[in-house]
Amino acid sequence: MSKQFDVVVIGGGPGGYIAAIRAAQLGFTTACIDEWKNGKGGPAPGGTCTNVGCIPSKALLQSSEHFEHAGHHFADHGIGLNDLSIDIAKMLGRKDQVVKQNNDGILYLFKKNKVTFFHGRGSFVKAGEGAASTGSGQGYEIKVAGAAEESITGKHIILATGSNPRALPGAAFDEENILSNDGALRIPTVPKKLGLIGSGVIGLEMGSVWRRLGSDVTVLEALPTFLGAVDEQIAKEAQKAFTKQGLKVELGVQVGEVKAIAQGVSVSYTSAKGEAKTLDVDKLIVSIGSVPNTIGLNHEAVGLKLDERGMIVVDDDCKTNLPNVWAVGDVVRGPMLAHKAEEEGVAVAERIAGQHGHVNFNTIPWVIYTSPEIAWVGQTEQQLKASGRAYKAGTFPFMANGRARALGDTTGMVKVLADAKTDEILGVHIVGPFASELISEAVVAMEFKASAEDIARICHAHPSLSEATKEAALAVDKRTLNF
Ligand code: FAD
Ligand code: NAI
Repeated sequence: MSKQFDVVVIGGGPGGYIAAIRAAQLGFTTACIDEWKNGKGGPAPGGTCTNVGCIPSKALLQSSEHFEHAGHHFADHGIGLNDLSIDIAKMLGRKDQVVKQNNDGILYLFKKNKVTFFHGRGSFVKAGEGAASTGSGQGYEIKVAGAAEESITGKHIILATGSNPRALPGAAFDEENILSNDGALRIPTVPKKLGLIGSGVIGLEMGSVWRRLGSDVTVLEALPTFLGAVDEQIAKEAQKAFTKQGLKVELGVQVGEVKAIAQGVSVSYTSAKGEAKTLDVDKLIVSIGSVPNTIGLNHEAVGLKLDERGMIVVDDDCKTNLPNVWAVGDVVRGPMLAHKAEEEGVAVAERIAGQHGHVNFNTIPWVIYTSPEIAWVGQTEQQLKASGRAYKAGTFPFMANGRARALGDTTGMVKVLADAKTDEILGVHIVGPFASELISEAVVAMEFKASAEDIARICHAHPSLSEATKEAALAVDKRTLNF
């Protein structure tokens, strides 16, 4: 007889493993199935985020930032270094250790919370075999194909199968010369010339890593505007900083043939002005978005509905078209972010328990971990203009912030957008040091429907970067104190 669970989660990324932990906390017998393998073939839960996404990219961003500081900024502090060098193998080894700590941490959390973990691929059993497709009785039968084959049943199924990188047509990833995020995180030596297709989040983060380590980096972007989803003023400030650092970004290009050459890869493209151009590089990273992953779920057999882009169709509560089958994270609509996946995972577990799990899509923060960091929550100025909402804007530059001067990092600003009448905060946009941490205050403020005046009246520690947020809130009412 197959093992029976109240909740079976397929996928152990941030959406899945967090959903499993929350379901177990709520008293459900819970299983989580994940197929990711580490270098030795063992389990590596945590999904894209832990293995080839958020965590390893931040480890390399940190290492490369230390290298850049040592090479270019330590001297300002009177610190001299001779023969600065970087051991790429050691840097990559450290990154792998950080990943492993996170994999092991999730396995520990499963044990602690009594989540049964299955290492392998989970798929629906064909309709007609077992109780699949009705969701009644014992629920859905799920096959686990791994080292050992198992059959389990779940009254509720949570699908959290994530996404995969999108390849350029005609240029499949070989992870040697044409790299996805996976290959981009383990280039063994610093490429002399590095090309990137797509100046989105991965393009800028990975481009920054390898530029800091010495690559000559060129990014080719199809859209005519830089970081179109970001507040225009913030995107302009960021673009200025990246250009100054030597990151070359060509906008409005149309990428044509991508072919292997002796040196690496040659990319033919048409520039924004219509000129035919070629970019020859040692390595090419393609970062043009991600596609939802439902490979191997056998979703057809149970009639699980996907949309035209391959995403699992869900309603506002993450319910699919099948009774008691839910889906969360990158495999459903909404931003492809780890914290969005986690919030959905928690909300679904709570809904299964009859509670009112809630995810506020208006207050999901975004962070790009470049230097300067870019972070935002809520609406951009261009979105407010387009919607016709009357708003007030306040900005404060880090140049006028004491802590930023002491850090030696005064690039950028904080910008607060508030309703013209009610003063409710509608958006906060930051480009500058530790924007990733500073944005939390704005998220909390917006969750509590705070006004700019509320932030302006709260005591902020001195000297701290957060004072720039307070000052930007004061600037909404044109009464900054330090600028
Ligand atoms: P995933 O993390 O993709 O997890 C899905 C898991 O399901 C995988 O382990 C997969 O092997 C498994 N799986 C799939 N099908 C099956 C099956 N049939 N049976 C068993 N297992 C299966 N987001 C951020 O918020 N912050 C960041 O800084 C950030 N940085 C990123 C950097 C990079 C380079 C990349 C590529 C992404 C980054 N992201 C970041 C995005 C983030 O990684 C994703 O949004 C997040 O991982 C989505 O979580 P998920 O649980 O939906 O899916
Ligand atoms: P993205 O959607 O951020 O950027 C893709 C870029 O490629 C866009 O600017 C797009 O216009 C461009 N593009 C698309 N097709 C193109 C073509 N044929 N030629 C040239 N340019 C083209 O996607 P990215 O960077 O691949 O990242 C995938 C996902 O991972 C993102 O959606 C993001 O949510 C997540 N992520 C999040 C991070 C974070 O939160 N810090 C870090 C890295 C990734």
